[in-house]
Amino acid sequence: MVLALVCAAMMTPMNAKTLVAYFSATGTTKAAAARLAKQHNAVLWEIEPAEKYTAEDLDWRNSKSRSSIEMNDPEERPMIKRCTNITPYDTIYVGFPIWWGICPRIINSWLDNNEPQLEGKTLIPFATSGSSGIEEAEAYLKKTYPSLKWRKGLLLNKQ
Ligand SMILES: Cc1cc2nc3c(=O)[nH]c(=O)nc-3n(C[C@H](O)[C@H](O)[C@H](O)COP(=O)(O)O)c2cc1C
Repeated sequence: MVLALVCAAMMTPMNAKTLVAYFSATGTTKAAAARLAKQHNAVLWEIEPAEKYTAEDLDWRNSKSRSSIEMNDPEERPMIKRCTNITPYDTIYVGFPIWWGICPRIINSWLDNNEPQLEGKTLIPFATSGSSGIEEAEAYLKKTYPSLKWRKGLLLNKQ
């Protein structure tokens, strides 16, 4: 099924320069993103998949689950529901749950969709996890998107 992308214009406060864009499958990263946005007086933006992840999709024990299939293929790019207007922002926090040590492929979809407008902006990855650190995800993002200006990542597991 082909799902059309709907580009929604964002309502942006005049002086807002920081965006917190995040994907969250079960709400943990969403809560961390909301705290971060409040802390930095930033605009909050949820990166929503065109097709929501069900509990079955997220079953990492099942090698045939949607998340397992996506994470096993580095070229997978799950579709996103709406485009993000990143033009007004200098600094963008990019948040996600750690999946198999790195970011879910939907983060690649979002980065791919927004390149080359992301060039020159400061990008700060942040994540929540069961126990993993963010270092592997940071290294992966730097290697996959070497022309982007990545800053040190934040693991926001603690409230
Ligand atoms: C498919 C899948 C893979 C995961 N892989 C890891 C992992 O490699 N390391 C880890 O510490 N947690 C892992 N987790 C746990 C999530 O990172 C953690 O529960 C996260 O806080 C969920 O965030 P969310 O509620 O925003 O989706 C995984 C969860 C899922 C669903």
